[in-house]
Amino acid sequence: MSGRWPPPCLLYPQLRRSRMVLVLAYLGVVLGITLAVDRSNFKTCEESSFCKRQRSLRPGLSPYRALLDSVQLGPDALTVQLIHEVTKVVLVLELQGLQKNMTRIRIDELQPLRPRYRVPDVLVADPPTAPLSVSGRDDNSMELTAAEGPYKIILTARPFRLDLLEGRSLLLSVNARGLLEFEHQRLRRVPFSDKVSLTLGSMWDKIKNIFSRQGATDPAEGNGAQPEDAAGDGDKAKTQDTAEREEPGAWEEMFKTHSDSKPYGPTSVGLDFSLPGMEHVYGIPEHADSLRLKVTEGGEPYRLYNLDVFQYELDNPMALYGSVPVLLAHSPHRDLGIFWLNAAETWVDISSNTAGKTLFGKMLDYLQGSGETPQTDVRWMSESGIIDVFLLLGPSAFDVFRQYASLTGTQALPPLFSLGYHQSRWNYRDEADVLEVDQGFDDHSLPCDVIWLDIEHADGKRYFTWDPSRFPQPRRMLERLASKRRKLVAIVDPHIKVDSGYRVHEELRNQGLYVKTRDGSDYEGWCWPGSASYPDFTNPTMRAWWADMFSFDNYEGSAPNLYVWNDMNEPSVFNGPEVTMLKDAQHYGGWEHRDIHNIYGFYVHMATADGLIQRSGGIERPFVLSRAFFAGSQRFGAVWTGDNTAGWDHLKISIPMCLSLGLVGLSFCGADVGGFFKNPDPELLVRWYQMGAYQPFFRAHAHLDTGRREPWLLPAQHQDIIREALGHRYSLLPYWYTLFYQAHRDGSPVMRPLWVQYPQDVTTFSIDDQFLLGDALLVHPVSDAGAHGVQVYLPGPGEVWYDIQSYQKHQGPQTLYLPVTLSSIPVFQRGGTIVPRWMRVRRSSDCMKDDPITLFVALSPQGMAQGELFLDDGHTFNYQTRQEFLLRRFSFSSNTLVSSCADPRGHFETPVWIERVVIIGVGKPATVVLQTQGSPESRLSFQHDPETSVLVLRKPGVSVASDWSIHLQ
Ligand code: NOJ
Repeated sequence: MSGRWPPPCLLYPQLRRSRMVLVLAYLGVVLGITLAVDRSNFKTCEESSFCKRQRSLRPGLSPYRALLDSVQLGPDALTVQLIHEVTKVVLVLELQGLQKNMTRIRIDELQPLRPRYRVPDVLVADPPTAPLSVSGRDDNSMELTAAEGPYKIILTARPFRLDLLEGRSLLLSVNARGLLEFEHQRLRRVPFSDKVSLTLGSMWDKIKNIFSRQGATDPAEGNGAQPEDAAGDGDKAKTQDTAEREEPGAWEEMFKTHSDSKPYGPTSVGLDFSLPGMEHVYGIPEHADSLRLKVTEGGEPYRLYNLDVFQYELDNPMALYGSVPVLLAHSPHRDLGIFWLNAAETWVDISSNTAGKTLFGKMLDYLQGSGETPQTDVRWMSESGIIDVFLLLGPSAFDVFRQYASLTGTQALPPLFSLGYHQSRWNYRDEADVLEVDQGFDDHSLPCDVIWLDIEHADGKRYFTWDPSRFPQPRRMLERLASKRRKLVAIVDPHIKVDSGYRVHEELRNQGLYVKTRDGSDYEGWCWPGSASYPDFTNPTMRAWWADMFSFDNYEGSAPNLYVWNDMNEPSVFNGPEVTMLKDAQHYGGWEHRDIHNIYGFYVHMATADGLIQRSGGIERPFVLSRAFFAGSQRFGAVWTGDNTAGWDHLKISIPMCLSLGLVGLSFCGADVGGFFKNPDPELLVRWYQMGAYQPFFRAHAHLDTGRREPWLLPAQHQDIIREALGHRYSLLPYWYTLFYQAHRDGSPVMRPLWVQYPQDVTTFSIDDQFLLGDALLVHPVSDAGAHGVQVYLPGPGEVWYDIQSYQKHQGPQTLYLPVTLSSIPVFQRGGTIVPRWMRVRRSSDCMKDDPITLFVALSPQGMAQGELFLDDGHTFNYQTRQEFLLRRFSFSSNTLVSSCADPRGHFETPVWIERVVIIGVGKPATVVLQTQGSPESRLSFQHDPETSVLVLRKPGVSVASDWSIHLQ
């Protein structure tokens, strides 16, 4: 180590004592002038022709009838045909009982003109089925019983509906409002004037041409659904005019100057779900809105369509960068989930029979016996694909998390470093700048794990390359960071500069791996590099090619401590409709972009994560941040909430935005600390660090036009507070890591809304200014300018909460007014939990991973507590492939703290030991005795503070891997 570089794991002394443009058009027109979203760039439901058509259907008039005679009961599914009484088009419903208390419903056309898109790669496996049997039947209905799970399904024939019951209580109904709408594929009806000149034969030829161009099945081989009006049956055509409305937009749609050719006509699907007893629904991210979803009647539905929305607005249902079509419904007695597996543009309408009623009004109804059972109705509408929906029947929220995780996988276990602090901006200028920033952290005793490089690092926005004048020696830069045990993240976007001298472009073009236009040429759009083409990530060959690009040979200048950021993968196309790709662009397998839009970013994330795994021969865990996402993206890494603004309202909204993502499996979420657009004042920046320190993905990031804001550029007082916030983050890393392990194991969210943990406490149902980390810590970040105090809700009858700074004890449930100063971060540990911490904050997490642990044991009123600790090497898959991990359980009861193994499969050699135990809420013992296997009993020295009831046991000195017990006598 040269004299210039301090030892790699410098211990920060203060903390030891601590308690813890090239695209000018875009920049100018889109980025520069406006201060809020330009709504006219994005469609409303009324402007999205299928949404308008679907939404115009009125409830109560379902034209569908189930043909009970067609029922076929196989070992894995029951199928039944549904006929549309007017068009006579027949659909097939496939109903599956699934293990773990789930039901799957799929609806497709019996004889589609062309196969419809079924979303691949999202489910981790074919979900194991639990056979259904027929347990009753009459003329108009059939009762089915699932082999697993205590529920029954009643299938009603006319009008078609499904009711799921548990015992005698109705859990959920499907099509109870009669809003099933399946726009079957059809041949285009020709206006009368054209009929005169167009013979039936030439019409067929025309249509056949379209299909053969798309490489799709010849419609003649498919459905018998002939163009009925072409048969000249006037009356029939008239009836169909109502049933098969071909309004403007059905066969071609314009938005601003963009035309969508819609060669397959209207293909949308929609269905309603009624949730009796449910008043609170959550999920369907991503929206910059409250945690609890709002009723959409009379307004816009929530939209799911991955979009690059410039300067997004808060508190509205507009689409954002990612889409997870999963909704959770909660009542004090039950939790349910609906997973609508469709990757096309989707809108979700929510209505409720209690909307707008005050609590008092509801109580009055109840007392007078005049109130209806509260009910929420949810209606999903997608532009194409089939209806494929999973009903996750709980009964608890944690059951729903497990059910969803069993379908789509769990959060990837992040490398430990990625739970540390990340320093980013658009852009760090050059190598010297990067190294100065890196040094700045050491000079100011601030921990940091990662420095990020945005698009300017690449040579002319040619990803996988480096700007030769600014980053001439990337390997050397990476080595320097490695010597500090820090990492670098570089951006790799999915738009590829159209440039014959750029190898990436040449190979993709030559191998035909780009998305195509409907004419079959490579699709080109406008993005950061200027003219760009878009790799077709839905093609497995493309993904394999992309993954290979991350090998150290292919990605020149990269090294093992370089990780990746996928941005703009909605995909963002500056000159495309709604800043994205044309819906009639062509993908692998002949699918239209319309069918796959919401899953494009998922595939980019997947291929990149695979690339990072492959470059190490499958040994190292990847870290990839993605802006776009879909159901299942949790398997590939982290996401963030995109381009927020340096404002207090954006600071606040980061809580519900990340909570909503956590509810649907994406635990590794964060928001740009400081806000992306505009310059935060020091107070806001400090508050944002305090918020970020307690959110899963902790990265400061800023727009090109903002002032530099590395923490040391702030006045000393603010710097100190930021240092403290970073200290909190780093000291809690063992807890964060364990929470992520639990999320990885069973899908439980790391950052949780209070209602998940307190399902019967109605006060928690709408809280989105505070949250839980696991089940132990409650965080109420300060998110108001000039705040002198906050109102914290401490839930749980019979619970006690300890302020982690003062150890002051508070009973739950209560709303506590807590005075705050600029340095306060209100955090409480629940009595009954044990939280592991590292007490020495060093340069980076890698420097701390072998440090001794302090256990914070907060006792419940019954004098009990428990907690877990997960440890492994922090970066490889060895925890999985070689069982090299430790999962320890700590439990305190009857004045004894016991450390035991929570998973006997794991074994891991580690120097980590327990250096201290802090027991909160306990009287002073006479003696404290330590027992370890194979050693004689020893007495431990201790200190007790009668004012706070905190007992500190010094140096138990036991290995974290061993079994031991400590007795207070
Ligand atoms: C948009 C991203 O959201 C932002 O974080 C990034 O800095 C810019 N693209 C430039 O890459």
